[in-house]
Amino acid sequence: MFYPLIRKVLFCLQPETAHDFTISTLHLAGKPILNGIVKNLIACPQGTEKNVMGIKFKNPIGLAAGVDKDGEAIDGFAALGFGFIEVGTVTPLAQDGNAKPRQFRLVEAEGIINRNGFNNKGIDHLIENVKKSQFNGVLGINIGKNKITPLEKGKDDYIFCLNKAYNYADYITVNISSPNTPDLRQLQYGDALDDLLQSIKARQLILSEQYNKYVPVVVKIAPDLTENELVQIADALRRHKMDGVIATNTTIARDNVTGLKHSQEIGGLSGKPLQHKSTAIIRRLQQELQGEIPIIGSGGIDSIQNAQQKIAAGASLLQLYSGLIYHGPKLVKDLVQAIK
Ligand SMILES: Cc1cc2nc3c(=O)[nH]c(=O)nc-3n(C[C@H](O)[C@H](O)[C@H](O)COP(=O)(O)O)c2cc1C
Repeated sequence: MFYPLIRKVLFCLQPETAHDFTISTLHLAGKPILNGIVKNLIACPQGTEKNVMGIKFKNPIGLAAGVDKDGEAIDGFAALGFGFIEVGTVTPLAQDGNAKPRQFRLVEAEGIINRNGFNNKGIDHLIENVKKSQFNGVLGINIGKNKITPLEKGKDDYIFCLNKAYNYADYITVNISSPNTPDLRQLQYGDALDDLLQSIKARQLILSEQYNKYVPVVVKIAPDLTENELVQIADALRRHKMDGVIATNTTIARDNVTGLKHSQEIGGLSGKPLQHKSTAIIRRLQQELQGEIPIIGSGGIDSIQNAQQKIAAGASLLQLYSGLIYHGPKLVKDLVQAIK
Protein backbone atom coordinates (compact mmCIF):
# COMPACT_ATOMS: atom_id res chain seq x y z
CA MET A 1 0.00 0.00 0.00
CA PHE A 2 2.86 2.38 0.95
CA TYR A 3 5.25 1.21 -1.72
CA PRO A 4 4.63 4.00 -4.28
CA LEU A 5 5.69 6.47 -1.58
CA ILE A 6 8.66 4.38 -0.45
CA ARG A 7 9.69 4.02 -4.09
CA LYS A 8 9.64 7.79 -4.55
CA VAL A 9 12.05 8.17 -1.64
CA LEU A 10 14.28 5.29 -2.74
CA PHE A 11 14.41 6.57 -6.33
CA CYS A 12 15.82 9.89 -5.04
CA LEU A 13 18.89 7.91 -4.00
CA GLN A 14 21.54 6.38 -6.24
CA PRO A 15 20.38 2.82 -7.10
CA GLU A 16 23.15 1.17 -5.10
CA THR A 17 22.60 3.43 -2.07
CA ALA A 18 18.89 2.55 -2.20
CA HIS A 19 19.84 -1.12 -2.45
CA ASP A 20 22.19 -0.97 0.55
CA PHE A 21 19.55 0.88 2.56
CA THR A 22 16.95 -1.78 1.69
CA ILE A 23 19.31 -4.60 2.70
CA SER A 24 20.02 -2.89 6.06
CA THR A 25 16.29 -2.37 6.64
CA LEU A 26 15.45 -5.97 5.81
CA HIS A 27 18.36 -7.14 7.93
CA LEU A 28 16.66 -5.41 10.85
CA ALA A 29 13.23 -6.66 9.80
CA GLY A 30 14.65 -10.17 9.96
CA LYS A 31 15.49 -9.88 13.66
CA PRO A 32 13.23 -12.17 15.73
CA ILE A 33 11.66 -9.26 17.59
CA LEU A 34 10.53 -7.53 14.37
CA ASN A 35 10.10 -10.52 12.07
CA GLY A 36 6.66 -11.45 13.36
CA ILE A 37 5.43 -7.85 13.02
CA VAL A 38 6.68 -7.61 9.43
CA LYS A 39 5.10 -10.97 8.56
CA ASN A 40 1.77 -9.80 9.99
CA LEU A 41 1.98 -6.48 8.15
CA ILE A 42 2.74 -8.13 4.83
CA ALA A 43 0.30 -11.02 5.46
CA CYS A 44 1.56 -12.96 2.46
CA PRO A 45 -0.50 -16.10 1.74
CA GLN A 46 1.18 -19.52 1.89
CA GLY A 47 0.73 -20.11 -1.81
CA THR A 48 0.82 -23.40 -3.65
CA GLU A 49 3.39 -26.00 -2.66
CA LYS A 50 5.50 -27.41 -5.43
CA ASN A 51 8.00 -30.26 -5.64
CA VAL A 52 10.90 -29.50 -7.94
CA MET A 53 14.32 -31.23 -8.06
CA GLY A 54 13.20 -33.37 -5.13
CA ILE A 55 12.76 -30.24 -2.97
CA LYS A 56 9.47 -29.09 -1.49
CA PHE A 57 8.92 -25.35 -2.19
CA LYS A 58 6.15 -23.75 -0.10
CA ASN A 59 5.40 -21.60 -3.17
CA PRO A 60 7.09 -21.18 -6.56
CA ILE A 61 8.13 -17.50 -6.19
CA GLY A 62 11.77 -16.87 -5.33
CA LEU A 63 14.21 -14.04 -4.76
CA ALA A 64 16.78 -13.93 -7.58
CA ALA A 65 20.53 -13.87 -7.04
CA GLY A 66 22.31 -10.56 -6.68
CA VAL A 67 19.75 -8.96 -4.36
CA ASP A 68 21.22 -10.39 -1.16
CA LYS A 69 24.71 -11.28 -2.34
CA ASP A 70 26.16 -11.85 1.13
CA GLY A 71 23.09 -13.32 2.82
CA GLU A 72 22.74 -10.28 5.11
CA ALA A 73 18.93 -10.13 5.09
CA ILE A 74 17.69 -13.69 4.48
CA ASP A 75 15.12 -13.59 7.29
CA GLY A 76 13.86 -10.15 6.21
CA PHE A 77 13.30 -11.33 2.64
CA ALA A 78 11.65 -14.49 3.97
CA ALA A 79 9.11 -12.30 5.77
CA LEU A 80 8.03 -10.91 2.38
CA GLY A 81 6.63 -14.38 1.57
CA PHE A 82 9.16 -15.83 -0.88
CA GLY A 83 9.03 -19.58 -1.32
CA PHE A 84 12.77 -19.65 -1.89
CA ILE A 85 15.72 -17.31 -1.61
CA GLU A 86 18.88 -17.43 -3.69
CA VAL A 87 21.88 -15.68 -2.13
CA GLY A 88 25.13 -14.80 -3.96
CA THR A 89 26.73 -14.66 -6.41
CA VAL A 90 29.54 -15.45 -4.04
CA THR A 91 33.17 -16.07 -4.92
CA PRO A 92 35.98 -17.82 -2.99
CA LEU A 93 37.59 -14.52 -1.97
CA ALA A 94 35.92 -11.23 -1.11
CA GLN A 95 36.14 -8.70 -3.94
CA ASP A 96 35.03 -5.10 -4.44
CA GLY A 97 33.53 -5.43 -7.90
CA ASN A 98 33.68 -2.70 -10.53
CA ALA A 99 34.01 1.02 -9.87
CA LYS A 100 30.87 2.91 -8.82
CA PRO A 101 28.45 4.05 -10.14
CA ARG A 102 27.68 0.63 -11.53
CA GLN A 103 23.86 0.44 -11.34
CA PHE A 104 21.48 2.56 -13.41
CA ARG A 105 17.69 2.78 -13.48
CA LEU A 106 15.95 3.09 -16.84
CA VAL A 107 12.78 4.28 -15.19
CA GLU A 108 10.61 4.80 -18.30
CA ALA A 109 11.32 1.23 -19.38
CA GLU A 110 11.24 -0.24 -15.86
CA GLY A 111 14.70 -1.61 -16.48
CA ILE A 112 18.03 -1.68 -14.65
CA ILE A 113 21.55 -1.86 -16.02
CA ASN A 114 24.21 -3.16 -13.65
CA ARG A 115 27.88 -3.87 -13.99
CA ASN A 116 28.54 -4.75 -10.36
CA GLY A 117 31.07 -7.46 -11.15
CA PHE A 118 30.36 -9.89 -8.28
CA ASN A 119 31.02 -7.49 -5.40
CA ASN A 120 30.79 -9.77 -2.37
CA LYS A 121 32.44 -10.57 0.95
CA GLY A 122 33.49 -14.09 0.02
CA ILE A 123 32.07 -17.54 0.65
CA ASP A 124 33.14 -17.85 4.31
CA HIS A 125 31.30 -14.65 5.25
CA LEU A 126 28.19 -15.80 3.37
CA ILE A 127 28.18 -19.19 5.11
CA GLU A 128 28.43 -17.49 8.52
CA ASN A 129 25.33 -15.43 7.63
CA VAL A 130 23.49 -18.51 6.41
CA LYS A 131 24.28 -20.25 9.71
CA LYS A 132 22.87 -17.28 11.65
CA SER A 133 19.63 -17.16 9.69
CA GLN A 134 16.41 -18.67 11.04
CA PHE A 135 15.00 -19.25 7.55
CA ASN A 136 13.59 -22.75 7.14
CA GLY A 137 12.47 -22.38 3.54
CA VAL A 138 14.46 -23.31 0.45
CA LEU A 139 17.85 -21.59 0.22
CA GLY A 140 19.90 -21.49 -2.97
CA ILE A 141 23.56 -20.46 -2.98
CA ASN A 142 24.75 -18.96 -6.26
CA ILE A 143 28.49 -19.40 -6.91
CA GLY A 144 30.95 -17.74 -9.29
CA LYS A 145 34.63 -17.13 -9.90
CA ASN A 146 36.85 -14.30 -8.68
CA LYS A 147 37.87 -11.74 -11.28
CA ILE A 148 41.59 -12.35 -10.60
CA THR A 149 41.23 -16.08 -11.28
CA PRO A 150 42.22 -16.80 -14.89
CA LEU A 151 39.38 -18.33 -16.91
CA GLU A 152 41.30 -21.63 -17.35
CA LYS A 153 41.32 -21.94 -13.55
CA GLY A 154 37.73 -20.77 -13.12
CA LYS A 155 36.62 -24.34 -12.49
CA ASP A 156 38.70 -24.42 -9.29
CA ASP A 157 36.74 -21.45 -7.90
CA TYR A 158 33.41 -23.15 -8.59
CA ILE A 159 34.60 -26.38 -6.95
CA PHE A 160 35.96 -24.43 -3.98
CA CYS A 161 32.58 -22.71 -3.45
CA LEU A 162 30.66 -25.93 -4.07
CA ASN A 163 32.65 -27.68 -1.32
CA LYS A 164 32.03 -24.84 1.13
CA ALA A 165 28.35 -24.27 0.28
CA TYR A 166 27.19 -27.88 -0.11
CA ASN A 167 26.16 -28.56 3.46
CA TYR A 168 24.34 -25.23 3.86
CA ALA A 169 22.33 -24.99 0.65
CA ASP A 170 19.14 -26.66 -0.55
CA TYR A 171 20.40 -26.14 -4.09
CA ILE A 172 23.47 -24.57 -5.65
CA THR A 173 23.52 -22.36 -8.75
CA VAL A 174 26.52 -22.30 -11.05
CA ASN A 175 26.52 -18.81 -12.51
CA ILE A 176 28.30 -18.77 -15.86
CA SER A 177 26.20 -16.00 -17.37
CA SER A 178 27.08 -12.71 -15.71
CA PRO A 179 28.19 -10.23 -18.37
CA ASN A 180 30.24 -8.31 -15.80
CA THR A 181 33.14 -10.68 -15.12
CA PRO A 182 35.46 -10.67 -18.14
CA ASP A 183 35.00 -13.76 -20.35
CA LEU A 184 32.81 -15.58 -17.78
CA ARG A 185 30.20 -16.31 -20.45
CA GLN A 186 32.81 -18.31 -22.38
CA LEU A 187 32.15 -21.08 -19.85
CA GLN A 188 28.74 -21.56 -21.49
CA TYR A 189 30.23 -23.05 -24.63
CA GLY A 190 31.86 -26.20 -26.00
CA ASP A 191 34.70 -27.95 -24.20
CA ALA A 192 34.87 -25.33 -21.43
CA LEU A 193 31.23 -26.06 -20.50
CA ASP A 194 31.70 -29.83 -20.72
CA ASP A 195 34.80 -29.71 -18.58
CA LEU A 196 33.14 -27.51 -15.95
CA LEU A 197 29.90 -29.50 -15.73
CA GLN A 198 31.73 -32.83 -15.63
CA SER A 199 33.91 -31.68 -12.71
CA ILE A 200 30.96 -30.19 -10.86
CA LYS A 201 28.90 -33.35 -11.27
CA ALA A 202 31.76 -35.54 -10.06
CA ARG A 203 32.30 -33.33 -7.01
CA GLN A 204 28.54 -33.18 -6.28
CA LEU A 205 28.44 -37.00 -6.16
CA ILE A 206 31.44 -37.17 -3.80
CA LEU A 207 29.85 -34.54 -1.55
CA SER A 208 26.51 -36.32 -1.58
CA GLU A 209 28.20 -39.42 -0.15
CA GLN A 210 30.25 -37.42 2.31
CA TYR A 211 27.20 -35.59 3.71
CA ASN A 212 24.74 -38.34 3.00
CA LYS A 213 22.40 -35.92 1.20
CA TYR A 214 21.93 -34.95 -2.43
CA VAL A 215 21.99 -31.18 -3.08
CA PRO A 216 20.79 -30.31 -6.60
CA VAL A 217 23.00 -28.17 -8.83
CA VAL A 218 21.46 -25.79 -11.37
CA VAL A 219 23.12 -23.73 -14.09
CA LYS A 220 22.22 -20.10 -14.79
CA ILE A 221 22.37 -19.09 -18.44
CA ALA A 222 22.34 -15.85 -20.43
CA PRO A 223 19.53 -14.66 -22.68
CA ASP A 224 22.03 -13.68 -25.38
CA LEU A 225 22.43 -17.11 -26.94
CA THR A 226 22.00 -18.12 -30.55
CA GLU A 227 19.63 -20.96 -31.40
CA ASN A 228 22.59 -23.27 -31.93
CA GLU A 229 24.25 -22.30 -28.64
CA LEU A 230 21.01 -22.88 -26.74
CA VAL A 231 20.56 -26.34 -28.25
CA GLN A 232 24.14 -27.24 -27.33
CA ILE A 233 23.74 -26.00 -23.76
CA ALA A 234 20.53 -28.02 -23.37
CA ASP A 235 22.38 -31.08 -24.63
CA ALA A 236 25.26 -30.51 -22.18
CA LEU A 237 22.85 -30.03 -19.26
CA ARG A 238 21.23 -33.33 -20.13
CA ARG A 239 24.46 -35.25 -20.68
CA HIS A 240 25.94 -34.06 -17.40
CA LYS A 241 22.69 -34.71 -15.54
CA MET A 242 22.33 -31.20 -14.17
CA ASP A 243 19.36 -30.84 -11.84
CA GLY A 244 17.96 -27.57 -13.16
CA VAL A 245 18.57 -24.47 -15.23
CA ILE A 246 17.85 -20.81 -14.51
CA ALA A 247 16.80 -18.83 -17.57
CA THR A 248 17.86 -16.13 -17.66
CA ASN A 249 20.47 -13.72 -16.37
CA THR A 250 20.63 -10.08 -17.62
CA THR A 251 21.07 -9.18 -21.31
CA ILE A 252 23.82 -7.24 -23.06
CA ALA A 253 21.34 -6.30 -25.82
CA ARG A 254 19.83 -2.81 -25.88
CA ASP A 255 17.39 -3.18 -28.79
CA ASN A 256 14.26 -2.15 -26.91
CA VAL A 257 15.72 0.66 -24.81
CA THR A 258 17.34 2.70 -27.57
CA GLY A 259 17.53 6.41 -26.83
CA LEU A 260 16.64 6.11 -23.14
CA LYS A 261 18.81 7.74 -20.50
CA HIS A 262 21.54 5.31 -19.33
CA SER A 263 20.72 2.82 -22.10
CA GLN A 264 24.31 2.94 -23.34
CA GLU A 265 25.86 2.11 -19.98
CA ILE A 266 27.91 -1.07 -20.10
CA GLY A 267 26.51 -4.01 -18.15
CA GLY A 268 23.54 -6.36 -17.99
CA LEU A 269 20.02 -5.09 -18.59
CA SER A 270 17.20 -6.52 -16.48
CA GLY A 271 13.54 -5.80 -15.84
CA LYS A 272 10.72 -5.25 -18.29
CA PRO A 273 12.96 -4.88 -21.38
CA LEU A 274 14.18 -8.45 -20.72
CA GLN A 275 10.74 -9.95 -20.21
CA HIS A 276 9.96 -11.39 -23.66
CA LYS A 277 13.52 -12.36 -24.44
CA SER A 278 13.84 -14.52 -21.32
CA THR A 279 10.41 -16.08 -21.90
CA ALA A 280 11.44 -17.00 -25.45
CA ILE A 281 14.58 -18.69 -24.10
CA ILE A 282 12.50 -20.64 -21.56
CA ARG A 283 10.11 -21.78 -24.32
CA ARG A 284 12.94 -22.93 -26.58
CA LEU A 285 14.76 -24.65 -23.70
CA GLN A 286 11.59 -26.49 -22.77
CA GLN A 287 11.26 -27.78 -26.34
CA GLU A 288 14.76 -29.18 -26.06
CA LEU A 289 14.58 -30.49 -22.50
CA GLN A 290 11.01 -31.87 -22.71
CA GLY A 291 10.55 -31.57 -18.97
CA GLU A 292 13.61 -33.71 -18.25
CA ILE A 293 15.33 -30.84 -16.43
CA PRO A 294 13.28 -28.23 -14.55
CA ILE A 295 13.54 -24.59 -15.60
CA ILE A 296 13.57 -21.68 -13.16
CA GLY A 297 12.32 -18.57 -14.95
CA SER A 298 13.90 -15.17 -14.33
CA GLY A 299 13.70 -11.96 -16.35
CA GLY A 300 11.32 -9.05 -16.18
CA ILE A 301 8.57 -10.67 -14.12
CA ASP A 302 6.37 -7.80 -12.97
CA SER A 303 2.78 -9.06 -13.11
CA ILE A 304 0.65 -12.17 -12.69
CA GLN A 305 0.10 -12.22 -16.44
CA ASN A 306 3.72 -12.37 -17.47
CA ALA A 307 4.58 -14.73 -14.61
CA GLN A 308 1.93 -17.04 -16.07
CA GLN A 309 3.48 -16.67 -19.52
CA LYS A 310 6.78 -17.95 -18.14
CA ILE A 311 5.01 -20.90 -16.48
CA ALA A 312 3.18 -21.64 -19.75
CA ALA A 313 6.53 -21.47 -21.58
CA GLY A 314 7.88 -24.20 -19.29
CA ALA A 315 9.17 -22.65 -16.06
CA SER A 316 8.50 -24.63 -12.87
CA LEU A 317 9.64 -21.89 -10.52
CA LEU A 318 10.09 -18.11 -10.88
CA GLN A 319 12.55 -15.57 -9.51
CA LEU A 320 12.26 -11.79 -9.08
CA TYR A 321 14.72 -8.96 -8.91
CA SER A 322 13.89 -5.79 -10.89
CA GLY A 323 10.12 -6.25 -10.50
CA LEU A 324 10.59 -6.04 -6.75
CA ILE A 325 12.35 -2.69 -7.13
CA TYR A 326 9.67 -1.22 -9.40
CA HIS A 327 6.60 -2.77 -7.74
CA GLY A 328 7.59 -3.60 -4.16
CA PRO A 329 6.60 -6.50 -1.88
CA LYS A 330 2.98 -6.49 -3.14
CA LEU A 331 4.26 -8.14 -6.31
CA VAL A 332 5.51 -11.10 -4.26
CA LYS A 333 2.17 -11.35 -2.47
CA ASP A 334 0.15 -11.17 -5.72
CA LEU A 335 2.28 -13.79 -7.42
CA VAL A 336 2.33 -16.15 -4.44
CA GLN A 337 -1.47 -15.96 -4.35
CA ALA A 338 -2.03 -16.35 -8.09
CA ILE A 339 0.61 -18.78 -9.36
CA LYS A 340 -0.45 -22.37 -8.94
C1 LIG B 1 21.83 -5.10 -9.66
C2 LIG B 1 21.75 -6.54 -10.08
C3 LIG B 1 22.70 -7.44 -9.62
C4 LIG B 1 22.64 -8.78 -10.03
N1 LIG B 1 23.56 -9.67 -9.52
C5 LIG B 1 23.48 -10.97 -9.87
C6 LIG B 1 24.39 -11.91 -9.32
O1 LIG B 1 25.26 -11.59 -8.51
N2 LIG B 1 24.27 -13.21 -9.73
C7 LIG B 1 23.32 -13.62 -10.60
O2 LIG B 1 23.25 -14.82 -10.91
N3 LIG B 1 22.42 -12.76 -11.10
C8 LIG B 1 22.49 -11.46 -10.76
N4 LIG B 1 21.58 -10.58 -11.28
C9 LIG B 1 20.56 -11.07 -12.23
C10 LIG B 1 19.24 -11.39 -11.53
O3 LIG B 1 19.39 -12.44 -10.61
C11 LIG B 1 18.17 -11.79 -12.55
O4 LIG B 1 18.50 -13.05 -13.12
C12 LIG B 1 18.01 -10.78 -13.67
O5 LIG B 1 18.10 -9.46 -13.17
C13 LIG B 1 16.67 -10.94 -14.41
O6 LIG B 1 15.59 -10.80 -13.53
P1 LIG B 1 14.79 -9.41 -13.35
O7 LIG B 1 14.46 -8.91 -14.72
O8 LIG B 1 13.62 -9.79 -12.50
O9 LIG B 1 15.72 -8.48 -12.64
C14 LIG B 1 21.62 -9.23 -10.90
C15 LIG B 1 20.67 -8.31 -11.36
C16 LIG B 1 20.72 -6.99 -10.96
C17 LIG B 1 19.67 -6.03 -11.45
